[in-house]
Amino acid sequence: MKILLAEHRGFCYGVERAVAMARGCADRPGKAATLGPIIHNPQLVARLAAEGVGTVDNLDDIKGDTVIIRSHGAPPETYRQAAAKNLTVVDATCPHVRKAQTAARDLREKGYRVAVVGERGHPEVNSIVAWAGDGTVVIETEEEAAGLPAVPRLGIVSQTTFPPGRFDGIVDILKTGAADIQVNKTICTATEQRQQAAVDLAARVDVMVVVGGRGSANTTRLAQLCQEAGSRVYHIETAAELDPEWFRGAEAAGITAGASTPEWVIEEVYRKMQEFDQAMEQEIRQIEKGSI
Ligand code: F3S
Repeated sequence: MKILLAEHRGFCYGVERAVAMARGCADRPGKAATLGPIIHNPQLVARLAAEGVGTVDNLDDIKGDTVIIRSHGAPPETYRQAAAKNLTVVDATCPHVRKAQTAARDLREKGYRVAVVGERGHPEVNSIVAWAGDGTVVIETEEEAAGLPAVPRLGIVSQTTFPPGRFDGIVDILKTGAADIQVNKTICTATEQRQQAAVDLAARVDVMVVVGGRGSANTTRLAQLCQEAGSRVYHIETAAELDPEWFRGAEAAGITAGASTPEWVIEEVYRKMQEFDQAMEQEIRQIEKGSI
């Protein structure tokens, strides 16, 4: 069985940067904690905790003197509260997310009603909405776009990980409801690259293994796209979940991973699949020799 890795996979620039910033805090004298998991990957979160950088859900729970804002970003209110508590803020907001936040805020200041095209409830979308302020709407589907009451001025920004094709479709619908429309396609290329590489690979293999946290929206999306490309797909968090039966009879298997999946987790998956393959080849040789 051929085992192929997607050309673009795993940590993106923003996550790499955020993890490095969080790791850097482990060596500081005061204790630091991330506000929410730094990324949607339980293995990495556990590793960071072992290094001394824990996770809190609320600023009130911080025992040390430093709060790390994760790559998804945070609402302006979080920065105000951190300042009121005299906390040092290590801001690991991905620059692409920051761009979406400031675009949303600027549109609102210019008098546009802001629509954030993205997944409702996702922490990044929540942060963009908070930067844009009251009256901001989240649009997740074409139906929601069609149902949005007409406004004279509409400003649109996107969740950075939103599929570009779906964004364009939604924008086409929104364009019919406003005389003055400003579109900021704040989608980052890391997502597009990973999605395209995953789809290309899924079309060439029998089985796709998508590695990443179950809570990671971009990993789940990769799995969906691979399925749509016609591949049998397994979404796993670690190599321990792999089952040799998934690969029985497969000529080629592919591996991809979400933007929050560390390279060491991908390597473990690759090695385990190689072991399965060697065991299967041995089994076939024994059958051919008639010893099974
Ligand atoms: Fe940033 Fe894009 Fe990654 S927005 S966190 S570089 S997926």
